[in-house]
Amino acid sequence: MIQATAPGKVILVGEHAVVYGRPAIAAPVWQTVATATIAAGAPGSGCTITAPDVGLSLRLADAGDDEPLAVVTRLALERLGIDRAPDWRIDLYSEIPIASGMGSGAALSTALVRAIMLGAGQEPEPAFVSDLVYESERFYHGTPSGIDNTVVAYGMPIWFVKGQPPQPFEPGRPITLAIADSGIRSPTKETVGDVRRAWSEDPARYENIFDEIGRVVLAARHALEEGDAHALGGIMDANQALLEKLDVSSPVLERLIVAARQAGALGAKLSGGGRGGNIIALVDERVMQPVCDALAAAGARRVIVTQIGGTQA
Ligand code: MEV
Repeated sequence: MIQATAPGKVILVGEHAVVYGRPAIAAPVWQTVATATIAAGAPGSGCTITAPDVGLSLRLADAGDDEPLAVVTRLALERLGIDRAPDWRIDLYSEIPIASGMGSGAALSTALVRAIMLGAGQEPEPAFVSDLVYESERFYHGTPSGIDNTVVAYGMPIWFVKGQPPQPFEPGRPITLAIADSGIRSPTKETVGDVRRAWSEDPARYENIFDEIGRVVLAARHALEEGDAHALGGIMDANQALLEKLDVSSPVLERLIVAARQAGALGAKLSGGGRGGNIIALVDERVMQPVCDALAAAGARRVIVTQIGGTQA
């Protein structure tokens, strides 16, 4: 049996503007993963894929081109030079909530591509995996920047600009985030589509906001490199204010963000597509418990604590 995993992810700063060519910073979240296993099926059974978390069960030979996991499987086999799909039973599982801004789609596809590569006797090389997963991301996101497939496939914090090779980077000092799930599912495709419509109606206003976000991301990089968590917290708050201007925030997310800040978080913002999904709060370890308690009291369905840099990814 072959097994491969892929992490969830957070966008630390820069979501949405990254679709329009500005930089963004993202990090993997290894506390919540997707897993793919491949077992040999009966001879002649063909390739089957099941993913109970997304209600999927299909035979590759029968699947249409509107099924992202089938598309990515076919593409992976083709790029690996495998003409006939092997008799494989592929099972996919994910702990990452769907449509929550944590890259569940990218993680499922990444685990799948890694397992296929291992099944074909190849070492999963991140750039190769990321390219393939990008194709399935187009189903989930419409016009993805490529940041989700990249951070999930590389499995390390990255500085990302659309169309350029990602720059893996290590913060000067590790930071700790509380990631709180609002429980509201919000497909990224919808918020990305709404921002695009608003941008096409008033490009000057939106380009201005994207420029401001770009400056915030540069400042965040500097604060991360300096290990200045206080500065980074303020920068995350500034990014949240700009995301509110883009109209991708929501009262539920803002309730969680305010609760985290009031309990002592250094800064907090939505992460990913927005409207629902997760918020991230930058938290000094000493106030982690009060912040997590405040998030739960404000309605968070689940709080994950993760570290970026240091021994963790
Ligand atoms: C989603 O994690 C990040 C967005 O910027 C979309 C994208 O970059 O493809 C909202």
